[in-house]
Amino acid sequence: MRIEEIAARVLEISVRKRVSLRLAASEFFSQYRQYEKLKPAVRVITTEVARRYKLLDRATELVLGIDTEKLDLYAQNLVRVVVFEVMYRDFPLSTFSWFCRKFRVSISALRRLRDTDPDELVRGLDYISRLSVKYSIPRWVIDELFRAKIPNVEELLARFMRDPTRYIRVSTHLTDPEELAERLAQYGILCSRDPDLPDLLRIERYETHPAKTKEYERGLYHIQDKSSVLLGHEILQDLREGKCRMIDVTGGPGGKITHVAQYGYYSVGVDLSLRRVREIERHVKRMHILLTDYLCADSTKIPIRLEKFDVVLVDPECSGIGRLHHNPEAKMWISRRDVEKHSKLQYMLLRAVLARVRKGTVIYYCTCTLTLQENENQVMKILEEFDIEVVKPEPFLGAESPILRNAQRLYPHVHDTTGFFIAKLVKL
Ligand SMILES: C[S@@+](CC[C@H](N)C(=O)[O-])C[C@H]1O[C@@H](n2cnc3c(N)ncnc32)[C@H](O)[C@@H]1O
Repeated sequence: MRIEEIAARVLEISVRKRVSLRLAASEFFSQYRQYEKLKPAVRVITTEVARRYKLLDRATELVLGIDTEKLDLYAQNLVRVVVFEVMYRDFPLSTFSWFCRKFRVSISALRRLRDTDPDELVRGLDYISRLSVKYSIPRWVIDELFRAKIPNVEELLARFMRDPTRYIRVSTHLTDPEELAERLAQYGILCSRDPDLPDLLRIERYETHPAKTKEYERGLYHIQDKSSVLLGHEILQDLREGKCRMIDVTGGPGGKITHVAQYGYYSVGVDLSLRRVREIERHVKRMHILLTDYLCADSTKIPIRLEKFDVVLVDPECSGIGRLHHNPEAKMWISRRDVEKHSKLQYMLLRAVLARVRKGTVIYYCTCTLTLQENENQVMKILEEFDIEVVKPEPFLGAESPILRNAQRLYPHVHDTTGFFIAKLVKL
């Protein structure tokens, strides 16, 4: 099989099953072990194709005259992979004679493709369509970003075209950041201290995947975005001020509960998925966390007395629009229906929690998306039903929401994090 065909198969699995490219590649290479050594190269190609799939489709249509919508999913992705290689790589065009035969295009058409300036492809389109094609994001997502009053939407879309900055949270009960950074340097993982959060290292460069070191296995750190670590510090601030028990009602895989527990505060994680509860268990054991309990349950009807907790976190699944630089493949399948589906559950979880906690309880609501429907609008609906106020969390490193006072947003293109929303509520 050619590498282009393998990449097209992986993209096809990812789109058909709506799974990450990593999972799609695992599925493919577990069946075709003989191609295993091509895995890193396939990873790069599929990521780059997913990032610019709409632009590649437009180039195919305008320059090669192929209507990709008429092709099956595999052929559609095969064309995308080859068009990407012609436009963005320097392989001799004769390499693609098999493609020319298969799709009845001439080498001179490929030459025209190679000479095409990507900016030319979007000329003449209205502003939103231009952004949608250039940055390969569905139009409705761009509409949502404008509706949410995100500053410099084009810069955000451009940020999604590059790899995200990765961070690690140091297990401060087991080591310290300087010592860990020195140990990781031996693997070619170069880290620097984050200027804002004391237990956070920013990965500048890595030659070994950060989850593949002995130090990771020994629990000396956790791979976690800065936005989530920030939320952990906001919760810790409340715990230090005398609120001592915390529960994460959507707790898997345990990022936030293990964070607060490493500083000696008791935390509980609840998750509907047994697989996710097992992940909590794995991280708790790996990081030698003592003060945590976890269970598998549906938090819309949680079988625990929430009145016993001082801080409750609601961190539900969401459309993940703030993570499109982590998962560019999601740009190919994300739909408005995802926003609808997630917002229903988010609201049910918030209502279930608010109805059960006692006065004075602090509730954090967070998501890694940027739509109003899943963020500010959820909080505003809850404000109408319950006696609560939105207060400013500390530390506050993001930008205040232009829609909801005291709610915090983190933007990938401004704060170099996942796109994130945090509202701190207090029940009155
Ligand atoms: C964004 S993740 C939570 C991340 C977690 N708070 C952390 O810090 O690692 C959302 C989780 O919500 C869980 N979930 C979805 N519906 C749920 C429900 N009804 N009750 C409990 N957990 C639920 C999912 O299984 C998923 O693991």
